[in-house]
Amino acid sequence: EERYAADIEAIIRLKKQHNAVILAHNYQTPEIFHCVADIRGDSLALARAAQNIDADIILMAGVHFMAETAKLLNAEKKVLIPDVAAGCSLAEGITAENVRYLKQTYPGVPVVTYVNSTAAVKAESDICCTSGNARKVVESLNVPRVIMIPDEFLARNIQAETGIEMITWPAHCEVHERFTPQEIRQYRRMHPGVKVVAHPECPPEVVEAADYSGSTAQMIAYIAEESPKKVLLVTECSMSDNLAAQYPNTTFVRPCNLCPHMKRITLPAIRKSLENFEAEVVIPEALQERARLSVERMLLV
Ligand code: 13P
Ligand code: SF4
Repeated sequence: EERYAADIEAIIRLKKQHNAVILAHNYQTPEIFHCVADIRGDSLALARAAQNIDADIILMAGVHFMAETAKLLNAEKKVLIPDVAAGCSLAEGITAENVRYLKQTYPGVPVVTYVNSTAAVKAESDICCTSGNARKVVESLNVPRVIMIPDEFLARNIQAETGIEMITWPAHCEVHERFTPQEIRQYRRMHPGVKVVAHPECPPEVVEAADYSGSTAQMIAYIAEESPKKVLLVTECSMSDNLAAQYPNTTFVRPCNLCPHMKRITLPAIRKSLENFEAEVVIPEALQERARLSVERMLLV
C-alpha cells in the first residue's frame, strides 16, 4: 500500500546502512511481518534465531521481553525495541521477589519460567520455556511437581497434558484470558465444520473446547498440514491477517483479540528506532549471567 511505501523503503535502507536485522513476532501486522522483517516466528523461533545472528544491530518487532531475551543471547550487540512501553501482562504479573517467595515456600521444587517474563524473574529461575516447548521442558526435569510461572493457564494446560503437578501464580495474558468456551461453541454453531485452534495462554476450558492447541508457530504448521476449509484462531488478530495471504484456500473466522503491546510497534516507530538507535535494551550486569543460563538451558532441551 502506498501509505506504507516511504517507511518501508527507509527501513530497508537503514537496515543495510547499519547492518541491522529485524526479528518479527507472528503477532506483528502484515506490513511489518511481510515487508520489513528478516526473521519471523514464535517466541521460541525468535530466541533460537537470536542465538546466531550475524549483524551489529538487532531490532525486535515484538514486545520488551523478546528484546531482552535477544539481548541476553547477544550481550555484545545493540538490541533495539521501537517502543519501551510494549510490555506484556504476564511479564508484569510477577516480580523476582515473588519468585524468591515461591522458592522459599517450596524448597527444592524446580522453577520453570515462561519466556514472557523479565530478565530479573528469569535470573531467579532454573529453566525457561515457551508455549512451543513447555511440555518438553517440563518433562525433561523428571520430577512429579514443578513451579510454573507466571502464566497460570499455560501451567494448567501443561498439567492436563502431562499429569505433572503445577504450583502456579495468578498471572494471565490480557489477550487470551478474554476468550470463553461459550464464544467457541457459538462460532461452531455459526460455522459448521470449523476447526478451532487455541493458544495455550487461553483458559483450560477454552483449550478443552478447541480441536488443537499450540504456539503461534505450531498453529501455522497445523494450517499448512491440515489445510482446513475454515479455521478459527483463538489468539491475537494479526495471526489470521498474516496467514490469510499465504493460505488462500482457508477461510479465517474471527473472533480475535488485539494485543495493545504488540500494536505499539508500527512502521514509523521502527523507522525512528533505526534512525536514532532507540530504545536500546540494557540488562543490569548482576542479572545477565543467571538470566542467560535459564534461557540457554531451555534451548538445549
Ligand atoms: P508464541 O509465539 O511463542 O506462541 O507466544 C505467543 C505470545 O503471546 C507471545 O507474546
Ligand atoms: Fe503478552 Fe499476551 Fe500480548 Fe503475548 S499477547 S505479548 S502474552 S499480553
